[in-house]
Amino acid sequence: MKQEAIQFDTVNINEQNDALLIIDQTQLPGKKEILSLNKLEDIWDAIYLLKVRGAPAIGVAAAIGIYLAAKKIETDNYSKFLSEFQEAKEYLASSRPTAVNLFWALDRMENVVLENEDTTVEAIKQKLLAEAIKIREEDIQVCRSIGEYGLSLIKDGDGILTHCNAGSLATVKYGTALAPIYVGLEQGMKFKVFADETRPLLQGARLTAYELVEHGVETTVICDNMAAQVMKNGWIDAIFVGCDRVAANGDAANKIGTSGVAIMAKHYNIPFYVCAPTSTIDPKIKHGDDIPIEERPGSEITEMWYKERMVHPDAKTYNPAFDVTDHELITAIITEFGVIKKPYVENFVKLFKRVNRE
Ligand code: MRU
Repeated sequence: MKQEAIQFDTVNINEQNDALLIIDQTQLPGKKEILSLNKLEDIWDAIYLLKVRGAPAIGVAAAIGIYLAAKKIETDNYSKFLSEFQEAKEYLASSRPTAVNLFWALDRMENVVLENEDTTVEAIKQKLLAEAIKIREEDIQVCRSIGEYGLSLIKDGDGILTHCNAGSLATVKYGTALAPIYVGLEQGMKFKVFADETRPLLQGARLTAYELVEHGVETTVICDNMAAQVMKNGWIDAIFVGCDRVAANGDAANKIGTSGVAIMAKHYNIPFYVCAPTSTIDPKIKHGDDIPIEERPGSEITEMWYKERMVHPDAKTYNPAFDVTDHELITAIITEFGVIKKPYVENFVKLFKRVNRE
């Protein structure tokens, strides 16, 4: 059997089931440090500070985090347990607003508590552990499947552009946007990947380039403002990006700068694919304007990565962490159940009907 191309496990629970294990992504690529976190406040900080980041990885970390919090609730009384559980859930849910996987995973965990009122608190805790492990395992399978569908859209040797990091570091393993590249790699294929550096937090330069190069993929890092040039040069055959939340009409929120890439792709007639596990599709949100967009501190623009502040102290900053790509610009949305094309409203309804039947 061929060795799997991807070895990282970005998010895990330790053997004693009492700590969340994550790779501290704020230190990459300089240092690969595994953090072992047990306190809810530390897990909240890890999500807010992007030590663990990427929509699916945030969801898995939250599932393990809420289990660890539930395990510490000292009561046999169901109502008291539920109330403390929900308090911890609300707290974790306040860490980041855009990636719907955070809320999706926390809701799944809460349902375990709500559906088991008739059993003991101790048994509920065991069921919560099982659900957190299931969410983690599912993420690996879902990403692998996205990789297979994505691979069917490209060919050996293609030039691929990606924005931010939607690779193995953004999920448990494989990633979403980088999964087609890894699955292709396992089959002996090779791609030339162009990674936007992704200002202001440099997820492309620091994380995407790191994981691709570690897996032997030819990787070229470009500043965000060079994307049009590489497209014009004819070096890009397809664009793959991840996403944090897809609205019912197919509008997709992803790392700031993604919508600009999609607009350029249309100009240069390059297919623009959004890779989205169904857990990232939020049918309750009708269109992209209603997706909550996280705003982060201006210091990420003015000071971070620089030896000294690079911006006049009186200049204002605007630092939205995500933007929304209009569904019209998206060639297809690649899910674990297949490649979804326009019209997204109708095709998502069909997809969810099918998924709920299976
Ligand atoms: O702010 P980040 O680094 O969490 O943003 C991550 C992204 O925008 C990813 O593209 C998205 O979460 C998809 S990850 C498979």
